[in-house]
Amino acid sequence: MLTITIIGSGYVGLITGICLAERGHAITVVDIDEKKVRAINAGEPPIYEKGLQELLSKHAGSNLHASTSYASVSDSDVIFIAVGTPPLPDGSADLQYIKSAAEQIGIALQERHVPYPVVVVKSTVPPTTTRDIVVPAVEKSMKDPFGSCMNPEFLREGRAIEDFMHPDRIVIGSCDEEAIAKMKQVYAGFDAPMLVTSSTAAEMIKYAANAMLATRISFSNEIGNVCKKLGIDVYEVMQGVGLDNRIGPAFLNAGVGFGGSCFPKDVSALASLAIAVGIDPILLHSVIKVNDNQPSIMMALLEERVHDLSGKQIAVLGLAFKDNTDDIRESRAIRIIELLREKGARIKCYDPMAMEEVKHLFPPSQEISYMSSAGNALDGADACLVLTEWPEFAELDVEFSRMKTQIIIDGRHILSIPHAEGLCW
Ligand code: UGA
Repeated sequence: MLTITIIGSGYVGLITGICLAERGHAITVVDIDEKKVRAINAGEPPIYEKGLQELLSKHAGSNLHASTSYASVSDSDVIFIAVGTPPLPDGSADLQYIKSAAEQIGIALQERHVPYPVVVVKSTVPPTTTRDIVVPAVEKSMKDPFGSCMNPEFLREGRAIEDFMHPDRIVIGSCDEEAIAKMKQVYAGFDAPMLVTSSTAAEMIKYAANAMLATRISFSNEIGNVCKKLGIDVYEVMQGVGLDNRIGPAFLNAGVGFGGSCFPKDVSALASLAIAVGIDPILLHSVIKVNDNQPSIMMALLEERVHDLSGKQIAVLGLAFKDNTDDIRESRAIRIIELLREKGARIKCYDPMAMEEVKHLFPPSQEISYMSSAGNALDGADACLVLTEWPEFAELDVEFSRMKTQIIIDGRHILSIPHAEGLCW
């Protein structure tokens, strides 16, 4: 059992904390947001994540505590940095929170009670950040030896606890034997291959993995756009492609494109990084371009079917960037709603979880309303767009008879009714 402090109680920090608490470690999660800290200590999840409520009720107040202070750092065997790295206007990652967390860890470690604490970067950071920014920032105040490591996360929102507990691999980016041994203790009992690399390679693995997944999606979308013109079902095509062992079936689902806080941000950050070292990121730019274009392709198809959208009532099913979350960051639905509004359409939306979030962006009005069920959103609609792969949409059937006109475009290959039209199939 190790004593661990995690700086940052966002989605990565909190999931790391609660899962390591479940593995028996003593965890303190540090955040500047007092409201969040109070919620965690009261066993109330500040974010929605499947299974989080149960684990928080089990561990909050026993081996998981939240605090606004860095005091626990001095007693910790391992200190994780899990603060945000939001994009700057040029797409590169803003590292100010990483740097400030590392500096404060250094100050707290001046009074340390552990002989060789290990500082671990869990946030997604550009290669060299751990070595050239984090370690020097800790050393600014702390002159005694300490270990450092980069340990990327590969968690999917909505399935993060499952992903943490059953990872495909654990990447330990360090060349310090003592730090590596400590990380093996952190992950003792996890049934996954462990890959030990340099810290810079570990940092790059995270970006490259996300860029690869995003590339597969944009590739599938481009093939899908061609298939649509030729009257071919891209899902049949990708099934045939994915059965090749060298390719595999995951992340080949064509549709309205990827959203979320990770793929768009990480692909842009990697592209900026490439430019900074004199490489033209031709492929990465195309991945973003294909993705940005999918909502327009959906709008063009809608206009082909409906002709003039002005004054037409459009049902929008799905607002979250994917199922099982209320997160709307970079959700394709936001772009589609903007485009529908530009065309003068009246929108009736429904999402099982994300409506409150979208109301902040588009307050309810004559042009946009938020309905309590998919059926109510479909009532009297001239057309319907499906934008999120919520499993409950697969069950929809008689609800579509409430529409005025049966123009139904599925952007996620989720509907089961035969007369829905696929975006690229
Ligand atoms: C992604 C990665 O999958 C995680 O491994 C990674 O740790 C995480 O980013 C991160 O960097 O933190 P996440 O953003 O939660 O996870 O969501 P995904 O399940 O990967 O889906 C991303 C988007 O791609 C969604 O909008 C989804 O609808 C879309 N998608 C996914 C497709 O359009 N097609 C697919 O075949 C798969």
